[in-house]
Amino acid sequence: MDNSNGGMGGKRVLITGSTSGIGKATAVALAAMGADVVVVGRNPERGEAALEEIKDQSHNESVELMLADLSVQGEVRRLAEEFLERHDRLDVLVNNAGLVQSKRTETSDGIETTFAINHLAPFLLTNLLLERLEKSAPSRVITVSSEAQRWGNVDFEDLQSRRKYRGFPVYGMTKLANIMFTYELAERLKGTGVTANCLHPGSVGTNFGKNNRGPMALFFRVAKPFMRSPEQGADTLIWLASSPEVDGVSGKYFSDREEIEAKKVAYDPAARRTLWEISEDLTGLEVAA
Ligand SMILES: NC(=O)c1ccc[n+]([C@@H]2O[C@H](COP(=O)([O-])OP(=O)(O)OC[C@H]3O[C@@H](n4cnc5c(N)ncnc54)[C@H](OP(=O)(O)O)[C@@H]3O)[C@@H](O)[C@H]2O)c1
Repeated sequence: MDNSNGGMGGKRVLITGSTSGIGKATAVALAAMGADVVVVGRNPERGEAALEEIKDQSHNESVELMLADLSVQGEVRRLAEEFLERHDRLDVLVNNAGLVQSKRTETSDGIETTFAINHLAPFLLTNLLLERLEKSAPSRVITVSSEAQRWGNVDFEDLQSRRKYRGFPVYGMTKLANIMFTYELAERLKGTGVTANCLHPGSVGTNFGKNNRGPMALFFRVAKPFMRSPEQGADTLIWLASSPEVDGVSGKYFSDREEIEAKKVAYDPAARRTLWEISEDLTGLEVAA
């Protein structure tokens, strides 16, 4: 593994979705660089197994597990509260947990599941941890998006895909929302020392898509041998989390350590503000703040 990014000793990192795939590979790499890593998972057995693996592979015992089902806003809030109680600093927040679903379902909060986990959960978690990130500045927020953003359209009248649901376009819309969120967050954080960036990890052979049946499951099974390894897929994320090369760099979307362009709507400040306001509304953020 390439650890030439620089030391992470004394830095506290929280990574969602780090029980598997890109998130787990990132946790191993950052812990190996000396970071104190908080692994977030939703399942106790998978979480404990990943925790041991990450400690073992990184030779770092300063890795801890926090459990939260990010589809449930109450659990996102509990996760943030527990983190704030336990830790007085947060240097890097990695919003990585995500999924694609071939069939429309709703969370226990009554929100379309892909939108809830991929967009609203990172939106809420980041906002709840923002003060701690600001106190720890210079600090970084990194959100794992995807070039699937190109298939996505942000329809403010139907963000929860009630009228029409197709798995990949809905997934693409949530990944476009990750970029819009990042660009808007970077604007709002100007002058605070907290940066916000996002990335496309490439096509990576992980557990991604395995929660589905039928053609979507078949697609991921057939494609997996041709995909990047989780370690390769994590490279740009690890670089964004740790490299001095991106000190102060904010409001950008990367692939293979290079800035790339997002869909046009992501550069529209009014659209980004609208998404932010709807997200505040759907998470009750202003009420609780
Ligand atoms: N793989 C690709 O080709 C690819 C390409 C572009 C972007 N991405 C993005 O990369 C990110 C990581 O995906 P991956 O490929 O590493 O997939 P993965 O192996 O399926 O990992 C996804 C992680 O998210 C967690 N997660 C899912 N739903 C959750 C929930 N309700 N609450 C808490 N955690 C939850 C999973 O936990 P469990 O272990 O409990 O399931 C797992 O740790 C995603 O945001 C994805 O959109 C992936």
